Amino acid sequence: MTQTILITGASSGIGAGLAREYARRGDRLALIARRLELLESLAAELRALGAEVTVHQGDVTRDGDVSRVVEELASRGIGIDVVYANAGFGVAGNVQKLSIADYQRQFDTNVFGVLRTIKETVPALRARRGRLVLVGSVAGHAASAGMSAYSMSKFAVRALAETLHGDLAPDGIRVTLVSPGFVDSDIRRTNNQGVVQTGAKDPIPAWLRVSTDKAAREIVRGVDRGKAEIVVTGHGKVIVFIARHFPGVLRWAGLRVYKGRPEPAKGAAVPRSRG
Ligand SMILES: NC(=O)c1ccc[n+]([C@@H]2O[C@H](COP(=O)([O-])OP(=O)(O)OC[C@H]3O[C@@H](n4cnc5c(N)ncnc54)[C@H](OP(=O)(O)O)[C@@H]3O)[C@@H](O)[C@H]2O)c1
Repeated sequence: MTQTILITGASSGIGAGLAREYARRGDRLALIARRLELLESLAAELRALGAEVTVHQGDVTRDGDVSRVVEELASRGIGIDVVYANAGFGVAGNVQKLSIADYQRQFDTNVFGVLRTIKETVPALRARRGRLVLVGSVAGHAASAGMSAYSMSKFAVRALAETLHGDLAPDGIRVTLVSPGFVDSDIRRTNNQGVVQTGAKDPIPAWLRVSTDKAAREIVRGVDRGKAEIVVTGHGKVIVFIARHFPGVLRWAGLRVYKGRPEPAKGAAVPRSRG
C-alpha cells in the first residue's frame, strides 16, 4: 500500500536520500526545507521515477511551517504515515570560543525544530497510527571536545526519543531514533551559521563515509521493522558500543585527538568529527 512520508531537511544529504529510497518504492512524499530550488529539482527527479511528490518551503525554527504542510495534505484527503524530523546542522568549536547565541542557534534547529515538527505532525500521525523518526547522531551517544553544541543538541534528541516511546504509545505511534555516523552530505560543509560553503571539501576521508543511498536504505529498512534505534555505519556502531560500556576510552581518545588542534576560522566550514 502506498504510504505518505513527510521529511524535513529533504533538500540535501540524508533527507534527500530518504526521499529517493521511498520514491523507488512508489510512496508519496511531502518534502520540506528552506531551499525551494533544491527541493524542486529533487522532486523532478523523483517524479521521473513515478513518485507523487509535493515540495514545501519551510523552516523548522518557525511555528506553523510544518503544520501548514499537514493541513495542505489533509485538505486533499491525504494522511501521513511516516514523519522524519531530519533537518539539522552542526555548530562546532571550543566551548570557550562559542557564544551563547551559537548554542541557541544550534538548539533552535536541532532540538526545538525537532520538537516543533513532532508537535505539528503528531495529530496527523495519531489518525494513522503512524511512525515518527527522529534523526539524532552518534554524537548523541559520544560527545567529544570541540563539539559541545552539536553533541548537546543530539543528546537532547536522544532523550526526547526515549520519552516519546512512552508518551506516544497510547496513540499507537511508533518512534525510531536514527543515529548516523559519517554519511555523505553537506553537513561538514556547513558553517556555524547554518550556511553551506559551496565547494568546500568534506574533511572526513571518503573511505570512512557511507554513501547517502546506503544509509537511506538501512534507515528505511529499520523503520519498516519498527526498530527503536538504528545506528548507521560500522564505525558508528563501534563508537556507540564503546560509549555505552567504556566511556573512559572515548574521553582518552578525544584528549589525544583534539590536543593542539587549531580552532576553525570564524564562519569556516568545520570540524572533522561533526556527524
Ligand atoms: N551526514 C552525517 O554524517 C550525519 C551524521 C549524524 C547525524 N546527521 C544528521 O542528519 C540530519 C541531516 O543532515 P545531513 O547530514 O543530511 O546534512 P545536509 O546535507 O547539510 O542536510 C541538512 C538538511 O537540513 C535542512 N535544514 C537545515 N536547517 C533547516 C531549517 N531550519 N528548516 C528546515 N530545514 C533545515 C537543510 O535544508 P535547507 O538548508 O534547504 O533548509 C538540508 O536539507 C541532521 O539532523 C544531522 O545532524 C548527519
